[in-house]
Order: sequence, then structure tokens, then C-alpha cells
Amino acid sequence: MIIHVVASDGVRAMMESALTARDRVGVQDFVLLENYTSEAAFIENLRKRFKENLIYTYIGSVLVSVNPYKDLEIYTKNHMERYRGVNFYEVSPHIYAVADNSYRSLRTERKDQCILISGESGAGKTEASKKILQYYAVTCPASDQVQTVKDRLLQSNPVLEAFGNAKTLRNDNSSRFGKYMDIQFDFKGAPVGGHIINYLLEKSRVVHQNHGERNFHIFYQLIEGGEEDLLRRLGLERNPQQYQYLVKVRIWLFTRDTKLAKLFWEPLGNCPKVSSINDRSDWKVVRKALTVIGFNEDDVEELLNIIASVLHLGNVQYGGEEGNACITSDTQIKYLARLMSPLNLEQASSARDALSKAVYGRTFTWLVNKINASLAYTDDSFKNYSVIGLLDIYGFEVFQNNSFEQFCINYCNEKLQQLFIELTLKSEQEEYEAEGITWEPVQYFNNKIICDLVEEKFKGIISILDEECLRPGDASDLTFLEKLEDTVGGHAHFVTHKLADAKTRKVMGRDEFRLLHYAGEVNYNVNGFLDKNNDLLFRNLKEVMCMSENKILTQCFDREELSDKKRPETAATQFKASLAKLMEILMSKEPSYVRCIKPNDSKQAVRFDEVLIRHQVKYLGLMENLRVRRAGFAYRRRYEVFLQRYKSLCPDTWPNWQGKLADGVATLVKHLGYKPEEYKLGRSKIFIRFPKTLFATEDALETRKHSLATKLQAGWKGYSQKSKYQKLRTSAITIQAWWRGILARRRAQQRRQAAATIRRFIKGFIYRHKERCPENEYFLDYVRYSFLMKLRKNLPKNVLDKSWPTPPAALTEASEHLRKLCMQNMVWSYCKKISPEWKLQMEQKMTASEIFKDKKDNYPQSVPKLFVSTRLNGEDINPKVLQALGSEKMKYAVPVTKYDRKGYKPRSRQLLLTSNSAVIVEEGKLKQRIDYGALKGISVSSLSDGLFVLHVPSDDNKQKGDVVLQSDHVIETLTKIAICSDKVNSININQGSIKFTVGQGKEGIIDFTPGSELLVAKAKNGHLSVVSLQSSSVILLCKCL
Ligand SMILES: Nc1ncnc2c1ncn2[C@@H]1O[C@H](COP(=O)(O)OP(=O)(O)OP(=O)(O)O)[C@@H](O)[C@H]1O
Ligand SMILES: [Mg+2]
Repeated sequence: MIIHVVASDGVRAMMESALTARDRVGVQDFVLLENYTSEAAFIENLRKRFKENLIYTYIGSVLVSVNPYKDLEIYTKNHMERYRGVNFYEVSPHIYAVADNSYRSLRTERKDQCILISGESGAGKTEASKKILQYYAVTCPASDQVQTVKDRLLQSNPVLEAFGNAKTLRNDNSSRFGKYMDIQFDFKGAPVGGHIINYLLEKSRVVHQNHGERNFHIFYQLIEGGEEDLLRRLGLERNPQQYQYLVKVRIWLFTRDTKLAKLFWEPLGNCPKVSSINDRSDWKVVRKALTVIGFNEDDVEELLNIIASVLHLGNVQYGGEEGNACITSDTQIKYLARLMSPLNLEQASSARDALSKAVYGRTFTWLVNKINASLAYTDDSFKNYSVIGLLDIYGFEVFQNNSFEQFCINYCNEKLQQLFIELTLKSEQEEYEAEGITWEPVQYFNNKIICDLVEEKFKGIISILDEECLRPGDASDLTFLEKLEDTVGGHAHFVTHKLADAKTRKVMGRDEFRLLHYAGEVNYNVNGFLDKNNDLLFRNLKEVMCMSENKILTQCFDREELSDKKRPETAATQFKASLAKLMEILMSKEPSYVRCIKPNDSKQAVRFDEVLIRHQVKYLGLMENLRVRRAGFAYRRRYEVFLQRYKSLCPDTWPNWQGKLADGVATLVKHLGYKPEEYKLGRSKIFIRFPKTLFATEDALETRKHSLATKLQAGWKGYSQKSKYQKLRTSAITIQAWWRGILARRRAQQRRQAAATIRRFIKGFIYRHKERCPENEYFLDYVRYSFLMKLRKNLPKNVLDKSWPTPPAALTEASEHLRKLCMQNMVWSYCKKISPEWKLQMEQKMTASEIFKDKKDNYPQSVPKLFVSTRLNGEDINPKVLQALGSEKMKYAVPVTKYDRKGYKPRSRQLLLTSNSAVIVEEGKLKQRIDYGALKGISVSSLSDGLFVLHVPSDDNKQKGDVVLQSDHVIETLTKIAICSDKVNSININQGSIKFTVGQGKEGIIDFTPGSELLVAKAKNGHLSVVSLQSSSVILLCKCL
């Protein structure tokens, strides 16, 4: 057969991994082996990696796993996380990578997946399937309900292993049944259910085992771990040696002469102890698991009842009289005696064993169904779930003596190999054809010929076996052998002792036939083939079982079966049918492969038995597998997928190719510089021959991605910033609009109010003279208010400021009150602030005002000039005068001019005012002293001159008559004299002339006339004539001064 291979996407990914993440030791993908056709190189790579505890290696998408026989720290939660959602090529090979890849394909492509785990007994299939299940349980999303399903999926394993696994010579925990398990996922990728299909349990193990092997684990677990109470109820003793089925071993003896093997079952009386098995703790695990799966106490009790019954049944012994069997053991099941009575000893034993096998076998099937019920996906609303199938089925087995079971098991492995060929090699060939691609031929062995040998209708071994079973007459295992020789004797893969050459005869018994399986040669001993194939149970035994009160047994033994006259299908035919069904199931799914290899036969870590491994590499077809991978095109991609992935690498195809896909891909690869021998374009796919071509493209994409990412980032940032800005902008505009609205509404309201106010105001104005009424009250109030406000701002600043706003009519009175109050207030505060000196000054000025205001012409000029306290200081006055005055306090002194009484000659004198008198001084002499009491009056003109007369009594001799004086500060001087002498009212202001006495009753007259110049002189009439400046002249003069 010629085959070409194109790897799937997964393969591509892994090969990339191998190149980019090359291992320290060996290559992690055999595809990368330099010498890929060399088996030695292949095994050397395995050995190197095994030594480094690297137990996983790929051949493309196929995972090769070598059993390490020790716990490796590579199954932790961290490891699971590392493989979760990561492409194959990014991490080193692992069972988790396979699990994850299937899961991702399931999710992205929505296609059901299956993972086929193959390898011989003890190679690690069951462990691998458990690891996969654990991976899904941990990494898949889960709700509470899903958690229950996850628990049940996980817990189904210990239960099925307890009932279906046993210690064999090859494996302490060998699966003695085939198992296909569907894990159902909902659209969210959560595991929501499961379904298990079991295949051909090795029932014969219930009644006897090979030397060094054990019965199914459950028997030992129950006896070792079961509580005392439980054992008592079941009538069991805690000693496995007590039970024939646990101690009876099968021994084959060869007779030298006949070369026929003779089978013995001997109760050797010892159950093999296995250090790797702890039945007691396993019991606890199983009990817990049963509960998780949904067994209640009654279910468990019934189930264990059956297990105990099988043990009891094994202990039923026969004694024989006249060749007939009767039960000798001391049990109560007397009915058995009746049932067995017409049988001879051998028949009775085999009937008993048949019953035990049937009971156990059917119970096992019931158990699987029960688990299925608990795993069933119950949500009817969503039936459209996806599935990942896990196939863990017994591996290819070769013992020293192989029987019907090995025949079935190895046939099963042939079928799986066929499937492998169908699904990968052949289908790939077909794809090349469909795509119109030419390929290089690769030779590989197609085992269809062996499958046909076994299963072909009428001509196949199973058909012949069935025929012998059904044939009336003396059919036996040996006649079956003969029939085989007659029918398939000429087949290239079939040999018997009779047909063999001399060399082969030496290693074959006469009751054996040899099949040349794809995996190697196996001799099968025909002894027991017919019985096992018939798998018959006496009708009356069935009847009895139907009557059982045990609920499980009533389900296992259906009454309808009794009435069914049709002969049941033989075991081999049933098995064949179930395998055909399995193939169908697997064919409908996308497969992944795990190929398990056992490193040695002694279950030892580290030991790498090259011979054993070479054998497995060969029969697993790994070399062919590798050759095929390397020979054809390494990759294929649908045009749209390829273009979609790499279009960014060519300007013509980026960002989108508008034309036909094939043209797009052609343009792209041309741009990438692919050489013609590196690729082929099919009808819908591109085929790439070498991994390196694709790696180079991947590398280019990786580089391109960075620049694209930068661009995208920039684009995205721009976009996000822009939208952020737009959002801010619209928000701002909204706020603005809102605020403007508020403002506009406010303004409108203000305008409305203003208009109303104005209207009210005008109305008020019109009604202003009316009585207070609603029409004018606002106006009136406003006028008042605004007057008061205006007043507040325009209050007089000082006492002299007489300004005052004009009040409205209504406020005239109030305004007057206010004005007064204000003035009082100002006066009061002015007074409060005034100093004593200033007060004195003001008092004197007031006095001056009282005396002279409007009476004397030069008074107004004196007003702005401040009065001084004295015009002469101490140094201006002669000390003699001061001495003469003594203690008299001087209050004021001023230089004056004295006019003689006779000739009116002017003389310079000083006028001193003391507290008692006014004194006229000439140099150091006191010329005249006028006591204030003696001062009769003071006369002064109304004009602007400075003359004044101090009148004294004429009869006073001390005095020389009235004194005529002139002072430059006449107003100040006179005011001081008036105050000091307390003669304010004694000042006479005269118009025209003043009369005065000049001693001894004589009289003098002073005439005052206004003129343009001040002139004091004796007139011709003897009067003193004084020409005073006219008031206008005075003002002018003052201004000039
Ligand atoms: N990955 C592993 N790591 C550690 N030990 C392992 C691993 N795989 C297998 N083993 C050991 O090998 C033993 C046999 O493995 P397992 O039961 O999976 O074999 P199998 O292929 O299922 O055999 P059978 O066909 O008899 O059922 C396990 O009990 C375990 O001790
Ligand atoms: Mg197993």
C-alpha cells in the first residue's frame, strides 16, 4: 500500500515546537530525527529521553509515552495550567498537551474528538486516560452541577477498576475489560455528562487465575477492608485463603509425547501478595466512590451480596457417587444439588463456574449501566453537546499460553490498528487524491488481511468457531482446530502445528494455532474456545437467578431471556459486533493517538529493555508512522485558513485578497519566495513539503505580528482616545447646553421681573400723589428706600458740610430728624475729638465773634487767623518788669502803640495782661497798671483800624486818664482783655468817633474815617484823626499780604 501523509494543524504546531523549543536531550518530535528511517536512532532517542525522565515524545500529532514506573512531578495543577490553552509547539510534549489540543479542537471546530490510547498490558494506558480525565476535571469551566459530574467522572474509575481490574503477571492493575468513555461538553466547554461502553470482561478470572495472578480486586478489598459487621452479614471470613476462587490457579501441563497442554486448576492455597496494592485503603476509596456515584446503602449491600455469593459459590464442593455430582460442602443451597444432580463432577463444577462467571459478568455490566445513569446528561433542553471519547482498551497480549480471551484482545488491537490506518494513513492518501496532488510512495503494512482472517463472514476464524459451536454432534476444541486448518490453512498469517515447518513445530503445541499479527506472532491454545464462545448457562440456573430477591440480579437476569427461544449470539460474534460499533463511533470523530510503551517486564523504574521496546516500536507501527509523516508533505492548510493566517506577509494580500483564494495563496507564496519543490497547490489546500518552509513563514509572521501589533495598538489607542475625547466633548456640550439653558431661563426671568418692576414703577409714579394703595406702594417704598440708600452714601462729611440730599415729600420730616441726628452725631463726635488747646481757641474765637461779628470791619480777616497764647515771650519782656509783677501770672503780652493824650504822639509800649490787671510797660518800667475792676470799658471803632481805648475812672488819681492804644492784632488783643477782665459786654464799637477822658475832666475825641490808606494823626481840630482802610481795601490788602 502506498500512502502519503499530510499532517493536521496540530502536527504543524508541534513540529514548530520541536524546532523552536528543542530539548536538551534528544528531540521531542521524532520527525526531527536526522536519520528518521533508522530504528536504532529512534530507540536511542527514546532511551536518552527516558533516562532524563522525559517520557513523552511526539511523532507529529501522535504522542509516544514510556511508562516511567515511578511518580514524576509532572502532573501537578501548575503543569495543567501550563498546558491550558497553549499551542502544542510552545511547551514540551505531554499527555496534557494532547488533552488540551483535543479540547480546543472540540471548542473551535465543534467536531467530536477521540483519544485512542494503545499499548500492551502495563504500558500505562489506564494511567494516561486517568490523567486526561483529571486534566479536564481541573481545567474545564465548572458550575456546581458540573462539579458533581466531574466528581462522578473521576470516581467512576476506582469503582470500575475494583470490579474490572486485577493483578496479572504483567501489570498489578491490569484492566480486564475494554473501556470507551465519552465525556460530554456543553457549548460553554464544561463537562456535563459521560457515558461508558465496556468490552468483553475477562470473566474466566472469576473462577481461576494464572499462577502469580489474582482475581478481580473487589474480592480482596471486601475481605481485607470490609467492616466486621458487613462481613458477618455476608457470611465472609477475613481470610482470602478460605475461598477457592481466590486460591485456585490454572496450571498448564504439557505432555511431551502428544505436545498437548493439559489444563489443571489447583487450589494452591496462597493468594499472591502485592506490595503495590493496598486492598484495605483501596476499599475505602471504592466505598466513597460508590457513594459519589449515587449508590445508597441498600445498593451497596446488594452489590456486595453478589460478590460474597460468588465467593460462596466457589466453595461449593461436590462429592460423587456413581459418577454423579452431589454437594458435599456444608451450605444451605441445597437447590444447587438438585440442579446439578444429573451432571457428572466435571459438568457440575463447570456449571457452578459458569454461574459464577455469568453472575459476575452481568453484575459488572449492570454496574457500568448504573454509572452511566449517574453520569447521564440530564438537561433535556440542550442535547447538542460535543464529545471527547477516551479509549482505554486492553493492549496486545502475548502469554506463554494464550486462550480465547487473548484471541479476542489481540483481534481488538488488530481492529484498532486498522482504524489507525483508516483514519490517518489511508484517509490522507485519499485527500491527496481529492486535491489532485502527486506524492511519493511510502510502504507500510496494512493489517486488513489479518482482520479479514479473523472476522470475515463464513471464512473467518470467528465464523468457523461459531459454526463449530452450533454444529450438532461431537464438536470439540480440536475439531474446531481441524476446521480452521481446512478453511484458513492456506492463509499467510495462519499456522498450526500440522501446517508449520519443522522449526516452528518445535515451539507449537498440537492444540494450538498461530496467528501472525501485525504486532507479532501469537500461539493460541484451542482448549476452552468452544465453551467460552458459547458462554452458556443452564436454563434452570438462569431460572433460579430470575427468582432472586436481589434487585441487581433480577435486573441482570431478565425473565424475557427465558422465553426467548432464539439462541444467544456467541461471545466472539458479540465481541465482533461491539468492535464494529466502536470503530463506527471512533470513525465519526477526530482522533488523537497516545501510544504507550512499556520499558521492561519487571515493572522497574529506570530499566530500559531495548529488546522489549524494539518489539513494541515495531508492532505499534511507530517507524512506519514516522516514515509516512516525513515522506509526504509535512503540512496542509485550507486556502482560506492559510491566507487568513499569513496574508499580512504580502502587500498584495493584505489586508484583504479580493480574488480567488487559490490565486491569493499563489501570490502570497510567490512573495514569500517558496521554491516549486517546497509546496504544491491542491484544489482547496496548499501542501507544504518541509517543516522548515513553514517555520520560516511562521518566523516571518511572528516578526510581522509585532509591527502589526504596534499598528493595531496605535490604531486602537487612537480610537479609544478619540472616543474618550468625543465622550468628554459631548458631555461638555451637554453640560454647557444645560448651563446655558439655566442662564437663559434666569435672564428671561430677570427680564420678566424687570418689566414687571418697571411697569409697577411707572404705575406707582402715576399714583404717587395718591394715598398709599397697592398701585403706588412699591413706588413709594422704592423712593423711600432709594432716598435712604442715597443718603447713606451722601451723608455730610463734617459739621461745616451743610449738604443734604433733597428728600421726597413723604420723607421731609423724617429727613429733617435724620439731618439733625446726623449733625448732633457729628458735633458730638467732633467735640469728643477736640483737644483742650483747641477748645480754648474756639472759646476765644466764639467770644471774638460775639463781640465783633458784623460790627467791626477787620473782624472777618481775623477769623481764619488763630489766636496765639501770647505775642511776647519771657525774653521779649524786660526782667525788671517781670520782677515787678512778682507772682502775678502773665496771661497775654502784646506790643502796642500808645498815643499820648496831648499830642497824640505814638509810643511803642508792651501791653501785659495778668490775672488781675492790664499793665502798660515801657522798657523796664511799669508805666500804667489798670486793675480789671477799675476798667470801665473799652472802645473801638467799627472800621478796620487797630485803635482802641481803655476807659478808666477819671476820678482815680493813680490813673492819668483813658489810654489810647493801637494793636496790630486788635481783635485778638481785645478778646483777650475782655476775657481776662471779664468785660465781654463792656466793649463799645463806635461809628465815627470815640470820646475819652484825658485826666482832670478833660475830654479827647478820636475821629475815624474810612480811606484808602491807614493814617493816624492829630487833626487841626485837635482830634485824633484815624483814617482806616475801607473794608474792600482791607480784603485786598489781606490778599496782597
Ligand atoms: N505516567 C505514569 N507515571 C507513573 N507510573 C505510571 C505511569 N503510567 C503507568 N504507570 C505505572 O504502570 C502501571 C500500569 O499502568 P496501567 O495500568 O495504566 O497499564 P495499562 O496499559 O492500562 O495496562 P493494561 O492493559 O494491563 O490495563 C500503573 O499501575 C503505574 O504503576
Ligand atoms: Mg489498563
